[in-house]
Parts: sequence; structure tokens; C-alpha cells
Amino acid sequence: MTATADPVAAPASWRGLPAAQQPDWPDPGHLQAVTDELAGLPPLVFAGECDVLRERLAAVARGQAFVLQGGDCAETFAGATADAVRAKLQTLLQMAVVLTYGASVPIIKIGRMAGQFAKPRSRPDEIRDGIELPAYRGDAINGFEFTAQARTPDPARLLRAYHCSAVTLNLCRAFATGGFADLHQVHAWNQDFVAQSPAGQRYERLAGEIDRALAFMRACGADPEELHAVEFYSSHEALLLDYEQALTRRDSRTGLPYDTSAHFVWVGERTRDLHGAHIDFASGICNPVGVKVGPDTKPSDVLALINRLNPDRVPGRVTLITRMGAGRVRDVLPPLIKAVIAEGIEIPWICDPMHGNTFEAPSGHKTRRLHDVLDEVQGFFEVHRALGTHPGGIHIEFTGDNVTECVGGSHEIAAGDLHQRYETACDPRLNRGQALDLAFIVADSYHS
Ligand code: PEP
Ligand code: CO
Repeated sequence: MTATADPVAAPASWRGLPAAQQPDWPDPGHLQAVTDELAGLPPLVFAGECDVLRERLAAVARGQAFVLQGGDCAETFAGATADAVRAKLQTLLQMAVVLTYGASVPIIKIGRMAGQFAKPRSRPDEIRDGIELPAYRGDAINGFEFTAQARTPDPARLLRAYHCSAVTLNLCRAFATGGFADLHQVHAWNQDFVAQSPAGQRYERLAGEIDRALAFMRACGADPEELHAVEFYSSHEALLLDYEQALTRRDSRTGLPYDTSAHFVWVGERTRDLHGAHIDFASGICNPVGVKVGPDTKPSDVLALINRLNPDRVPGRVTLITRMGAGRVRDVLPPLIKAVIAEGIEIPWICDPMHGNTFEAPSGHKTRRLHDVLDEVQGFFEVHRALGTHPGGIHIEFTGDNVTECVGGSHEIAAGDLHQRYETACDPRLNRGQALDLAFIVADSYHS
């Protein structure tokens, strides 16, 4: 497809509505100049790709596939390197192999990558030693460093976010189809530190079984295309509406608007007001979209969101990403699912076991216990099994590196270890070993 670069042609009714979590740009003229420039730049994804993902998600809703969505809480410009992107993709591929093999179901791979540069914050400001500055809102807006200069929102960062997204997506596309993601590389993904961890060793045994299966198939003369590449999709939170609008283009084939900043975008727990700008924006694009829902969501909220975002009930168009907390998922999820079933609606339900389980360690680090993450996933499976619905996927924050940001795991990280390698720009992420631990648990739970 070729898309027109005229953002005026795309729906912009959200501009008349309250938009939570937008930066205070000091110079609106500069913001306008930047968004005009963005509107003239090429799309990052194509409408046809978004349509294929929507079909994949429709299969998830029918119970025929499972979503693995993950990546950084907040990507950084400094992190848009070949090594860092490869390590994240490697984690995603390893997890996907564990899930495909263990659960015997197609895994839809969606990175929280190539655009996850803007963060909602619980407070607009941050105070350190009596000094108050704007909170860090993600590299697309301001700098992490605690200085007045870094923390002042700068629209030029939106252009850098676009270019970092383009570079990252280009790498992901090349890794996904250029040989790296070939299933015959299943051992090669398990190199370095992770190979020594208990999860890495368990993975190695599984990779050995896959090798034997591949050798058997080759001996039979079968070498299907599907084994040599993977489908990879990009996603991020559609938070900065000026940016998302600038990348929204009409598909020349159909005249329909798509947000070409990513294949899939979601609206966060803090911005999903039914009458607010974010839901209005999401209702105007044809990409598959997600909505995060937390423990205080009412069944009527969920139905209203689904009806607003998908009045025509297009299969796969809306995904609900539930983030209830390990302690509450078993109580608060069933009424939401029952309400959706009662309306005869089939949607993909995805579990985000991260955002309801964050707490502050005695050292002051924001952290999560792997135990709680696993417990929420298990609760999610139990609830869906009991109601006869399909647990459609997981949404997690991880990195490809050996960081110490979450506690627990088969290679135990204690609260006292968090300082060793705490590198996140926002929420604590699972490291590669912990991500593999999670994949094994999910694979084991899938059929039980
Ligand atoms: C996030 O995904 O990083 C996030 C802020 O999530 P939520 O909107 O669920 O709080
Ligand atoms: Co987060």
C-alpha cells in the first residue's frame, strides 16, 4: 500500500476531548513544526500487516492461538542498538519456542518494541533533595537525568523516537526473516549467561528434542518455509496523541485510517476514560487495539469500551489486557469475563501479570516478585478454565540482559541483590532467565 501523508484526512475528533498524561510542551509552535515533519515521513508499518495481525488475534479469540507480547517498560534511545534489540528478540524467540513446543499452539509474537518511548506517570513532578522537576515521561518527551534541562519536554525528541522506532523495527524485521529466527538456530539463542541458569538448562534439553524432530522431518524430505522465519509485530502504548496522529494515514486501497507507528497500539489503565481523547483516538483507527484494565474495572466499563472501540464486532479488533494483581485476579476477573460472554462477544484476553504486582523494596527500588507474576498468570488460567474461555496470551516486561530488577526466579535474585544491575528507565523487567522460567510455567499451565 501507499498511504497519503495528509494527517488532516485522518480523524482528529480527540482534539476536542480531555487528554490525560500529555506533556506540557513549553513551545507549541515547535511541537507543530515537529508533527508537521512527522506527518511527511514514511509509515513504519503498513495497513495490510495490521490487517493480518487482526486476523491472528481473531484466531486467538477463537482459542486457536496464543499471544506473547513483551519488551521494555520504556525503551530508550540509547537502547536502540543491534546488540540490545537482538537480545530482546532472542528472549522473545526462546519464550515462543518453549510455548509453541510445550503448549502446542501457534504463538503470535508482538514486541513492546520499536515505539515504546512514552510513559504515563502517577505524579507529574518528582522531588529529590527538595528540588522539584517534571517527572521523566519517556525518551520521546524528556531526559531521565535529574536536571531542569533534561526534564523539560522537547518536541525534537518525537523525531528521534520515530527514527529509533524505524531502526529498531528494521532490525526486528531483518532478524525475524533473515535467518536469525530460523528454528534451526534454536540452540544459538541460548548462548551466554542464560545457558548456565536452571531455565537455560531446561531450555537446552527442549532444544535438543526440537533438533531431533527437525532432523527427522529433513530425513522425510520435509523442510517447510514456516521453520525459517517468524512473523513479528510491533506495539506500544498510544499515549502521545500528537505523535500517533502525525503517523495516522489513510490506506490508499480502502481509504481507511491506520496508525502506522506500530501494528498494534494499546490504551493504558490511566488513560482509558470512555469519554477521553485516547479512547476516541483508538476508535478512529483500524489497527487492532488493546485496552489495559485494572482491578477496579466494572463489567459495564468493559462492555462500554468494547462497544465504543468495536461497534461492528470485527473479530480481533479489540483485545483486553488484564492487570489485576496476584491477590485479586481470581475475584475480579470472573465478573468481567461473564459480562463479555453474556453479550456473545469473543475477544482475546491477555494477562499482564506485571503492573498489578509492583512494590518498593526496602532499598527503595521499584520491584516485582517473580512468584507474584507467576501466581497472577496461574490465576488468569484458572479463571478462564473455570468459565470455559480461552486464556489468550501474556503481556510482560522483560529485557534480553542479565539485569537484577525483579526478585525470585530459578536463579534466585534476592531483594538485597537489586542494586547490582538495576537499569530500567521505568518499571522493573524480568531478565532472560526469569522470562524463560515464566515461559515454562505458562507452557505447563496451558493444558492443565
Ligand atoms: C505499562 O504498560 O507500562 C503501563 C504503564 O501499564 P498500565 O497502563 O497497565 O498501568
Ligand atoms: Co511498565
